[in-house]
Amino acid sequence: MICLPGTQTALFAVMAALVEAGDEVLVGDPMYATYEGVIRATGAGMVPVPLDPARGFCMDADDLAARVGPRSRAILLNTPHNPTGAVLTESDIAAIGAVARAHDLWIVVDEVYEDLVFDGVRFVSPLADPALADRVIAVSSISKSHAAPGLRSGWCIGPQAFIEALLPLAEVMLFGNQPFIADATEAAIRRGSEVAVGMRQRYAARAAALANTLESGSGLRVHRPQAGMFAMVDVSATGMSGAAWADDLLAERGVAVMPGAAFGETLELWVRVALTVDDSRLMEAAARMAAHARIPA
Ligand SMILES: Cc1ncc(COP(=O)(O)O)c(C=O)c1O
Repeated sequence: MICLPGTQTALFAVMAALVEAGDEVLVGDPMYATYEGVIRATGAGMVPVPLDPARGFCMDADDLAARVGPRSRAILLNTPHNPTGAVLTESDIAAIGAVARAHDLWIVVDEVYEDLVFDGVRFVSPLADPALADRVIAVSSISKSHAAPGLRSGWCIGPQAFIEALLPLAEVMLFGNQPFIADATEAAIRRGSEVAVGMRQRYAARAAALANTLESGSGLRVHRPQAGMFAMVDVSATGMSGAAWADDLLAERGVAVMPGAAFGETLELWVRVALTVDDSRLMEAAARMAAHARIPA
């Protein structure tokens, strides 16, 4: 394990260590907004693997295998997933792992939302699969679990030989992470998060309330997240793209949502709603969204 300033820095360091110009990294689309930059900064190419809403936005191993090429080096996974809130199951991971083993690929997994998994959903880390122990690298932080994104404290866990190879890179990047931050982070993790339970419950309840309001009051469809701080809304019934509808909604109703296209082509007709605003504001925003959804008959 190496401590680094946040998941983002860990992702950057891991990608720089694993791939180079001409290599390819496979990544689910939609994806977190920085992934493309992190991959392309190494000179490697990004190969998007569409994540199907009908599969709950979980990566399908056949779709993945169909895109593996001679220069594929790594699969970048994100579970729980931003923006869709999807959580990979043990069998998803086993199937993706089989593709990784068959083609000798690394699996880099961003688990920063691990502590925000909703009740009744089981989080499984690819780190837990012994068959993948020599090829899984996990990155995470206390940004979400402890609501501490400004502290910039994260880490990377992987096979010993990989971590030893990463150390010189981490040294030229940082010349050492601040040890007092690593110590404070260890203490915070050992103690457990006091805020994660409340966040999990609030975000799950808000996602359900948003879905009830939109699906009964308009033709908008809400994908139920299994984790995280966001809900995806399918606005295709409006006949508009997510970006156009988001612009229109902001201009006419004063509600800001994120166009799905910011996360890749798969979400062209979707918008992302943050569940982090308080209940009454979110419900007011949901009512305005429902009123704004002029669904053609
Ligand atoms: C999927 C994902 N990965 C990484 C990050 C960055 O996290 P950190 O603050 O640990 O760098 C975020 C932040 O929103 C995220 O959503």
